[in-house]
Formats: sequence, C-alpha cells, structure tokens
Amino acid sequence: MIFVFFLFILLFAIILIFSSKKFSPIPYFPSNKKDLDLILRALNLKKNQIIFDLGAGDGLVIFAAAKKSHQKKLDTKFIAVEINPILLLILNMRRFFHPNKKNIKIIRGDIFKMNYNQLTSKQANQATFYLYISPWYLEKTLSNIKKQIKKFSIVSYMYPIKSLKKKERIVNGLNSIYIY
Ligand SMILES: C[S@@+](CC[C@H](N)C(=O)[O-])C[C@H]1O[C@@H](n2cnc3c(N)ncnc32)[C@H](O)[C@@H]1O
Repeated sequence: MIFVFFLFILLFAIILIFSSKKFSPIPYFPSNKKDLDLILRALNLKKNQIIFDLGAGDGLVIFAAAKKSHQKKLDTKFIAVEINPILLLILNMRRFFHPNKKNIKIIRGDIFKMNYNQLTSKQANQATFYLYISPWYLEKTLSNIKKQIKKFSIVSYMYPIKSLKKKERIVNGLNSIYIY
C-alpha cells in the first residue's frame, strides 16, 4: 500500500515537473529517431568542433553524435544544456555509461542565459548548435548566440529560422532539417 502511495507521489511530481513553466519552458519532445542519421550528417562532425544541444532532452541526438565521433576517432566536444531536473538525471546517467564520456558535458542551465563564449573559446574553433525548440524562441536564441560567438553553424530540427533564410539549406527527412 505504501509502495503504491509513493509511486503515485512520484508520478505526480514527474507530471508537475514536465508541465511546469519553470522546469520545462519548452515542452519535452524528442527528435524523431527516424531522422537521426540525417541529423547526424547535418551536424557535420569534425575535429576542433564543439556541438551544443540546447535543450538536450534525454540526449537522443547528442549521445548518438558523440558515439559517431568516437567511432570516427574525432575529438569533437559535446555540450548538452538542459533545465528539466528529471531529464538532467537521465542525461547524467547516460553520460556515465557512454564510451565517449570524456568529450561530453552536461550543463544544468537556461539556454537563454548561458555564457556560450566561455564554454567554446578554449575547446574548439567552430561551434555548432542543434536546436529543436519552439519556433517562437528561435530568433531569441539566435540573437543570444550571435552576441557571444563569431563563427558558428546551426542545425534546426523541424522549424526554419526566418532571419537566416539566405543561408538556409534544407534536408528533407520525416521532418525537415534546416542547416545554417
Ligand atoms: C523539444 S525538446 C528537444 C529535446 C532534444 N533536443 C531532442 O531533439 O531530442 C526541448 C527540450 O528543451 C528543454 N528546455 C526547454 N526550455 C529550456 C531552457 N530555457 N533551457 C534549457 N533547456 C530547456 C526541455 O526540457 C526539453 O527537453
């Protein structure tokens, strides 16, 4: 009986966290697994590159990319930024068992308040940002990145960034992938 009670409380807490504006300002929804290969290709993994997943969710993209980089013996760095405490727990557990964990950093933070410059400068000369966030936050995120970093590329899943239209390349998977 006590077990059922705690299970109920746990479920309630999880639902609360996932529906709260504070812990989940942009709802959690993973990229479609069927598009994963196309996404990895779009990220164009290289040496001296740092890849950010802004709002990394359960790490579907970042861990697959880190695995590919490990197999190709690249020394690409990966940073997963997440705000939801449950997803952070999952990210940290997955990182612990990952073959390329030395190149993966999990950061608890708000993507709109991050100091990207501090995170990139010493590690790599090219930053790539993977975004799968609500479309109305894309321009805000871009302007935050632009203010801090000179050389970067962006891969946006499902939603285009209007102000970057001229530089846009589209890969059509189950959902479109926009590369800038
Ligand atoms: C649509 S999901 C994408 C998950 C993952 N990138 C993927 O493609 O599978 C958006 C994620 O962003 C996280 N998130 C929302 N607002 C955030 C913020 N301000 N700072 C950091 N992460 C945030 C959510 O918790 C959620 O996991």
